Amino acid sequence: MRQNDTTARIAHVFRGTFVHSTPRDAVEILESSVLGVDDEGKIAFIEKDEQLVSLSKLWGFETSDVKQLGQYEFLMPGMVDTHIHASQYSYTGTALDLPLLEWLNTYTFPVEAKYKDLDFANNVYTKVVRRTLKNGTTTACYFATIHTDASLLLGELTDKFGQRALVGKVCMDCNSAVPQYKESPAECKAETDRFIKELLKKEYPNVKPVVTPRFAPSCSASLLSELGEIANNNKLHIQSHISENKEEVELVKTLFPGCKSYTDVYLKHNLLTDRTVMAHGCHLTDEELEIFHETGSAISHCPNSNISICSGMLNVRNVLNHRVKLGLGTDVAGGYSPSMLDAMRRTLDTSKALTIQDPQHQTLTFEEVFRLATLGGSEALSLDEQIGNFVVGKDFDALRVNVCVPDGPIDLFSDESPKVILEKFLNLGDDRNITEVYVSGRQVVPFPDT
Ligand code: GUN
Ligand code: ZN
Repeated sequence: MRQNDTTARIAHVFRGTFVHSTPRDAVEILESSVLGVDDEGKIAFIEKDEQLVSLSKLWGFETSDVKQLGQYEFLMPGMVDTHIHASQYSYTGTALDLPLLEWLNTYTFPVEAKYKDLDFANNVYTKVVRRTLKNGTTTACYFATIHTDASLLLGELTDKFGQRALVGKVCMDCNSAVPQYKESPAECKAETDRFIKELLKKEYPNVKPVVTPRFAPSCSASLLSELGEIANNNKLHIQSHISENKEEVELVKTLFPGCKSYTDVYLKHNLLTDRTVMAHGCHLTDEELEIFHETGSAISHCPNSNISICSGMLNVRNVLNHRVKLGLGTDVAGGYSPSMLDAMRRTLDTSKALTIQDPQHQTLTFEEVFRLATLGGSEALSLDEQIGNFVVGKDFDALRVNVCVPDGPIDLFSDESPKVILEKFLNLGDDRNITEVYVSGRQVVPFPDT
């Protein structure tokens, strides 16, 4: 319990069951407990509920204001989508019939080119932020497009709806089949500088820029170097893609003959830091994973996309054994679902497919996957001092889950334990079961306009 030695006041108190992960336990279930949130959106206390009366005196709240969770309800940390293309949301659920490089040139670049139009951007970006928030994504690491103003608009919308976000203006200066959808190296550097400066100037409390080279085949060596310098000079996050499919890995070998591996391309350009998150990594070697470990860079595992566009199957167990930070990503629209519950299910499917191929493979458990979607994601984005689980002093990013909503997707039978209820939610639940969403203590779902 934190001492109430400040003037902080209590904004919310919940009583009931809390489910979260710790570095030691993939799932910790705290029953008959109380959790308080202060008016700065931080967790003030989490204690057994026998302490309620003394806590109310210490913190000066009325016990009648406590929000009591029902028998089939619990609070869990908000989910962290470590890789999502906001700009591809308009065609999510379609266009999954081509492998990566053809998919980019045929579907992706023509659509992303449309974000010069701010009305188009406003419509899609509003929808993707609302959809993901409703599905329990309290933090999203977004790719936008090459357009600075539309990328700034995405930042504005995440702030308006209250989602925590890293927002990236995409950088690419070569190998686009759509001639108008790339920038010159000078333009790209100047616009990246402008994007970072203008977004930081807004002082949104929970929205920050992320330096975003699309991937090595889209960037010249000089652009990669410039971006490494910008990120390191300003201590910013970095995101990109790596080793998603085999054709791409071969292409990178021919484009960067002086580099030992795909990982070496990013290493040589100072893009692997402890604030870097690289999507996919399906075909990384153990040597490359070692570099990820040494640099503190993270991998975003995007299993829906990996299967949907036939890229590969990441062996998450092997990544974790190398002590590389790993979170989950939807990778909309290579992945067809914007829901992190889907990302968890597809993570389990891929892990089970690897076990079918090799019975020695140690299949991930649902508890481990729950941790990857919450605490693991916060670690992958280097935000774990601020979010990821219910620890005093962290920001209160949380979901109120009710597995027993009318006409909901889950049937319950008598005497089911909280662990079984959690497992049913993770495997069967959807946004109908996520009745409230909080980011930094602010209730953001249900939306104020509904
Ligand atoms: N590699 C480079 N760009 C992309 C993208 O937009 N989606 C996916 N899945 N991989 C990429
Ligand atoms: Zn991606």
